[in-house]
Amino acid sequence: MSRPPHVPATAALIGAALVLTACGGVGDAARPDGENGVIGIAMPTQSSERWINDGANMVAEFTERGYGTDLQYAEDVVQDQLSQIENMITRGVDALVIASIDGEALGDVLDMAADSDIPVIAYDRLIMGSENVDYYATFDNFEVGVIQGRYIVDSLDLEDEDGPFNVELFGGSPDDNNAYFFNDGAMSVLQPHIDDGTLEVLSGQTSMEQIATPRWDGSIAQSRMDNLLSANYSDEEVHAVLSPFDGISLGVIESLRAVGYGTDARPLPIITGQDADLSSVRSIIAGEQTQTVFKDTRALAAQTVDMTEALLDGQEVPVNDTETYDNGVKVVPSFLLEPVSVDLDNYHEVLVESGYYEESELE
Ligand code: GAL
Repeated sequence: MSRPPHVPATAALIGAALVLTACGGVGDAARPDGENGVIGIAMPTQSSERWINDGANMVAEFTERGYGTDLQYAEDVVQDQLSQIENMITRGVDALVIASIDGEALGDVLDMAADSDIPVIAYDRLIMGSENVDYYATFDNFEVGVIQGRYIVDSLDLEDEDGPFNVELFGGSPDDNNAYFFNDGAMSVLQPHIDDGTLEVLSGQTSMEQIATPRWDGSIAQSRMDNLLSANYSDEEVHAVLSPFDGISLGVIESLRAVGYGTDARPLPIITGQDADLSSVRSIIAGEQTQTVFKDTRALAAQTVDMTEALLDGQEVPVNDTETYDNGVKVVPSFLLEPVSVDLDNYHEVLVESGYYEESELE
């Protein structure tokens, strides 16, 4: 199977724009050609380039296999995503691939899809509370959190050092099932060190209710970090920040820099992340963000296309997990890909040598 090369962010933007133009906007009944059918692809937002790459990679894969595509982004507005999916159903797509904004909000629209016999694949984020989700393509989300937690533990050398070291915790969006998996994975590694006192959370904020970041919004994380710093760190240093997503990491870094972190005398703490977004990889190279978790959108797109094609052809759909992802109504059969930790030591090998980014994009 040949996979399309990674589409650099700017080209992907243009590609996405072309696709959107070719498909028409919401409500336009025009259908792009595809001898094998048309796939509706609903993506959450273009505000971080991973989703742009996910969309562009899927369009390339589906096109190569003779499918038309209708790719839509809803810019994190739940109602817009619902309208886009409704329109895809009305125009008669053959399958839906959905990365939800609010995982709980799609029940009614998925009932419509089921009434029209349109199968649904949840992409990266599980769709909750509906029986009309056929398959789920994602990464091992618990493992993402484990990787982030372990990075903090290893970087502070907690096997040999007693600390105490100060850590603050950030969570993802409370309407995204992934946020809980990331947090559970990270806390499975960090909690024993909090319990034995080698790690301290001076703010005392450790529950998901306290640490969640609605819509994964970096500016919300930045404000929360401002508050944490002024309330708890006038005489103390932050040694590590658990961040589940690159956009949050960059907000946290802004906040830390504003109070004087980021100099030789006062280095930034260890700050994790996720997605290997371009701005965060640049930040890692500049010595600011410490780590990210790379989830290869090329592989996820290819896997999703394999699953969709098998489903439409009546073949056995490839899955490797039939236990973990319970959406409250059913366990959704899933395929989990492996996430990879990236920092200054291996970014070149993992991201440049694999062709995910061009060296010139990282300058
Ligand atoms: C999650 C996804 C992460 C990150 C985050 C914010 O659902 O798994 O990789 O992209 O959303 O977009």
